[in-house]
Amino acid sequence: MSADARPVALVTGASSGIGRSTALLLARTGYRVFATVRSDAGEASLRAAAADLALEILRLDLADEAGPNRVIQEVLRQAGRIDVLVNNAGFAKLGAVEDLPRDDLRHQFEVNVFGALELCREVIPTMRVQHSGRIVNVSSLAGKVSVPLMGAYCASKFALEAFSDALRAEVKPAGIRVALVEPGPVATNFNRLARNESHVILQSPSAFQPVYERMREQGHERWAASPELVARTILRAVRSSHPQARYRVRLRESMATGFVAVIPRGALDWLMIRFAGGRAPRQA
Ligand SMILES: NC(=O)c1ccc[n+]([C@@H]2O[C@H](COP(=O)([O-])OP(=O)(O)OC[C@H]3O[C@@H](n4cnc5c(N)ncnc54)[C@H](OP(=O)(O)O)[C@@H]3O)[C@@H](O)[C@H]2O)c1
Repeated sequence: MSADARPVALVTGASSGIGRSTALLLARTGYRVFATVRSDAGEASLRAAAADLALEILRLDLADEAGPNRVIQEVLRQAGRIDVLVNNAGFAKLGAVEDLPRDDLRHQFEVNVFGALELCREVIPTMRVQHSGRIVNVSSLAGKVSVPLMGAYCASKFALEAFSDALRAEVKPAGIRVALVEPGPVATNFNRLARNESHVILQSPSAFQPVYERMREQGHERWAASPELVARTILRAVRSSHPQARYRVRLRESMATGFVAVIPRGALDWLMIRFAGGRAPRQA
């Protein structure tokens, strides 16, 4: 057991983007932060960004079934407790539903859903004993509306939302709070990595080939939020004494969610068909 009095947080996917910003912000705010990465390059990049902030860096690939248990045991061995879990790590497998083989779908869910849930299952027994704990699951606008060519990713975020809603009610009596953070587009490596991860858009012959060609050229979304802004939203979810079930990052995400809730399905489908036929996805 550690004599360190700081609350203990674990942030996954901290090599870049939202996870890195969140790990740094939590450390600056007084948390003892365990941050996970997958590679030497990810660790070096996080260490360089952290400068003299004392982050404790662990390895975790969520596609590895044994990973979540190993990481939580290591945090508990070093710190003796865990107060905050930020399930941030994730990626998008792009491609039309008809183009995505089962292995690709499985990988998408292994990382974005099963890995995150396994971490929840691993921390909850300790949080129950502590009678306190905070779990923040990083979802997306893609967990509210499913868009063409991102069906696998959207399905994974819808699933994360559904599990989080069930979990929130299950663990609240034990003093554990669960919140979702739902960013719209964020300026990170996410889109470039999505294209690299999605071999269907790189190589397979498909009815969507012209759209895939355009997606390959796509840069950052013009209206993307900064990862620091998302990190500040995650910090609100972590520190609020009465956390909301869901946090949106900006007004535009709240408006988009409201719009999707009220627009007739036929009209939304019409927009989506235009979107799939003529333009690459704008929303992550
Ligand atoms: N960027 C957006 O537009 C956007 C919008 C809404 C929601 N989100 C969500 O925000 C979260 C963070 O994304 P980001 O935008 O910060 O993208 P990012 O910069 O690409 O960061 C993703 C992080 O997840 C890690 N990761 C990917 N696959 C993993 C695996 N199998 N096991 C463990 N870690 C893995 C990456 O590690 P490596 O460096 O090793 O790849 C990286 O640290 C994701 O859950 C994403 O769905 C992003």
